[in-house]
Amino acid sequence: MAIYLDSASIADAQTAIQWGWVKGITTNPTLLAKSNLSPEATLTQLAAIAPYELFYQLTASTYEGMLAEAERAYEMIGEKTVLKIPATAIGFQATAYLSPQMDCSVTAIYSPAQAAIAQDAGAKYAIAYVNRATRLLGDGLALVQSMAKILQGSNTKILAASLKSPEEAAEALQAGASVITVPLNLLQQMTTHPLSEQTVIEFNENGRGIK
Ligand code: E4P
Repeated sequence: MAIYLDSASIADAQTAIQWGWVKGITTNPTLLAKSNLSPEATLTQLAAIAPYELFYQLTASTYEGMLAEAERAYEMIGEKTVLKIPATAIGFQATAYLSPQMDCSVTAIYSPAQAAIAQDAGAKYAIAYVNRATRLLGDGLALVQSMAKILQGSNTKILAASLKSPEEAAEALQAGASVITVPLNLLQQMTTHPLSEQTVIEFNENGRGIK
């Protein structure tokens, strides 16, 4: 199990890296567009500070374009690169070609059948957009469960994305995701529970510790 940061903000990445328990960073074109730096500058800076996997989502729409964009991403990010390749016919073809050379994930998966192809194409991760799937199809967690059945025992792990609450993040893990990716504010929410605060206050008021 691993928890990743879903953000292209350098400040968010610095915060999450300091925490020590976040183990990767996912970005997407929308997140990169929010940065006041260019996508190239953002990725270069993220790669310089992140000690782990950094996901970049391909935006090209042709096979040749995807291969060229993958090469440019690898030049910027290096060994930490995990490509996010769209779950389309051309995307699967690009995944099959690129996966022997660099880590690939197939992103925006909305059906168990697509997860099966992602595995066959050699993807390290099959990315399910849980909350989007719930909104658009009815049950994003059921999608993760079906994907987990298909990918049981395979080298392709489920990465659950588009998570909007601590409960949904935990449910995605229970449904079979190996990795979840979560925005910084949600990661912060996941660390806390009102009863934890209350319990610690009670112990500290009633008890003693070393000086
Ligand atoms: C994952 O890699 C994506 O960047 C992200 O989780 C998509 O989530 P959204 O539905 O909030 O856009």
